[in-house]
Amino acid sequence: MDKKDIEILVRRRIQELGLDMAGKKEYIIAANWKMNMSEKETKKFLEEVKGVPLADNIKVMIFPPYPYLHLFKEQLRYEKITYGAQDVAKEEKGAYTGEVSAAMLGDMGCSLTLVGHSERRSYYGDSSEIVAKKAKAALAYQITPVICIGETLEERQQDRYKEVLKTQLDAVYRELGNMLEKCIIAYEPVWAIGTGVIPTMDQIHETHKYIYQILNAYGITDNNIRVLYGGSVNAKNVQEIASVNYVNGFLIGGASLKAESFKSIIGLASEV
Ligand code: 13P
Repeated sequence: MDKKDIEILVRRRIQELGLDMAGKKEYIIAANWKMNMSEKETKKFLEEVKGVPLADNIKVMIFPPYPYLHLFKEQLRYEKITYGAQDVAKEEKGAYTGEVSAAMLGDMGCSLTLVGHSERRSYYGDSSEIVAKKAKAALAYQITPVICIGETLEERQQDRYKEVLKTQLDAVYRELGNMLEKCIIAYEPVWAIGTGVIPTMDQIHETHKYIYQILNAYGITDNNIRVLYGGSVNAKNVQEIASVNYVNGFLIGGASLKAESFKSIIGLASEV
């Protein structure tokens, strides 16, 4: 085995463990507010969360509804907390009533956007091809897409989850090619979203490892790509899930709506 092989092996192990080069596991703690919160609640939340000391290995991201993005722009200046939208148009501009473009998100100070959340896929018909186009539109404006993937309960029970996840990722890779490296992946089993039910740690480990295998097969071996877990994450289970290999962070719905609970999740993750 020569020096190059050893280097590849070490990199792979670092990636597997989700460590930074200093050997500490990094976590992204992301809040998806969905269609919740008021202007008043958002202002209060920001007051309570901004200035919270963040350990070096923690990155915080918040995805509020569109109408409150301006509050983030005004209140989170120079903060380590980044924010973004919950969706973005696949088109650049024009006659698309109700849509919000990537350029507009840039104007709002967004550096991120969710795409392909299962609620968008199931209620609004966002196919994997549409999700891929949305991710591409975001990247064109230097906005990092957080691409959500995940199987339904039926697909899990029928042992079809691997094929479902691969189909969802393949569609994105076809559109983005190597640019997929610039994205973040969020694995959210649909059956764990808002249900209080989470997969076993073995299931999370196996699935995240499988997602990395797919990414590796595309030639994405870089430590840059992160895979988050989402679905019923709260202060009680965050540390256990955080210790699972290949889990690089969380996308949190319900438990991110109260500053107290979100801050305690951040604190707990930074202790792992
Ligand atoms: P819950 O944390 O409420 O289960 O929601 C998860 C989710 O959908 C985040 O995008």
